Amino acid sequence: MNAIETHHLSHCYGAVQALRDVTLSIPQGELFGVIGADGAGKSTLFRILTTLLIPDEGRVTLNGLDAVRDYRAIRRIVGYMPGRFSLYGDLTVEENLQFFASVFGTSLSQNRRLIEDIYVQIEPFRRRRAAQLSGGMKQKLALCCALIHAPSVLILDEPTTGVDPVSRREFWQILQRLRQQGITIVASTPYMDEARRCDRIAFLREGVILYTDTPQGIVDHFGEPLYAITADPMHALLDAVRCFPGVLRCYAFGESHHFTLAADRIDALRTHLEAQGYHHLQLQPIQPTIEDCYLKLSQS
Ligand SMILES: Nc1ncnc2c1ncn2[C@@H]1O[C@H](COP(=O)(O)OP(=O)(O)OP(=O)(O)O)[C@@H](O)[C@H]1O
Ligand SMILES: [Mg+2]
Repeated sequence: MNAIETHHLSHCYGAVQALRDVTLSIPQGELFGVIGADGAGKSTLFRILTTLLIPDEGRVTLNGLDAVRDYRAIRRIVGYMPGRFSLYGDLTVEENLQFFASVFGTSLSQNRRLIEDIYVQIEPFRRRRAAQLSGGMKQKLALCCALIHAPSVLILDEPTTGVDPVSRREFWQILQRLRQQGITIVASTPYMDEARRCDRIAFLREGVILYTDTPQGIVDHFGEPLYAITADPMHALLDAVRCFPGVLRCYAFGESHHFTLAADRIDALRTHLEAQGYHHLQLQPIQPTIEDCYLKLSQS
């Protein structure tokens, strides 16, 4: 039995269709990433998975429980970190944890072992109000609060947005440890480097799942020769490459531009750009990153 199944989920807010025919199967113990730009429908999907929103169409089951009929039972097995800061800023670290534990009829001391690894990192600040914690510590506290009732499924909506890179890396290491304990985790992220750490990822755009696969599978599926190019001047280069016959797409990517072109056209492109007066031309074939794949799928 899969930990999570969605069948043909659709949801509208008035005229806005936030989700369209979303079907997913997530096995137990998987770390599943949902990648999508602002407004793609990530939070809507997560609200439905956590029984906080009933979809217009479609069905959801968690561990075989139906999200509408069995919502009470589901709430016991799900831990949820909503996108925005979900803690009580006026309560201390310890009080927040006590509160979330008491909602589920347990206590911090009873379930402390479940969060031990993470809690030791914020315990020195246990008397500090949550509002006064750093971004990374707030996220750790929110994760502790989501874990305190021993959920078997964790739903994390952009858990690392706005968190510094070191804390982000630490946070993902924690998620990988939780997954090793058999917890099923679904996390959304706008950071492509985090997508690589998932067992599988789904690209979501305008409420539609564009593609679902392992990070390696997504990269292997790219299926076109991809190149990185730099030259002087960089800015005009973008249009110059785009206009060259046979170039399917060219976009700025960090320090260079990435583009796709059949391998036998590369020498012709080089000659063409040199004739146009571009200097210091550096051009090499590269392996696509997950971000390249996302850009390709969301533009096609
Ligand atoms: N309560 C609401 N009322 C009306 N429209 C909404 C509501 N919530 C979301 N939407 C719209 O539905 C679409 C999907 O929103 P959703 O919040 O699910 O996306 P998201 O991927 O979580 O975006 P973000 O990255 O900005 O958090 C967007 O167009 C959004 O404006
Ligand atoms: Mg959101």
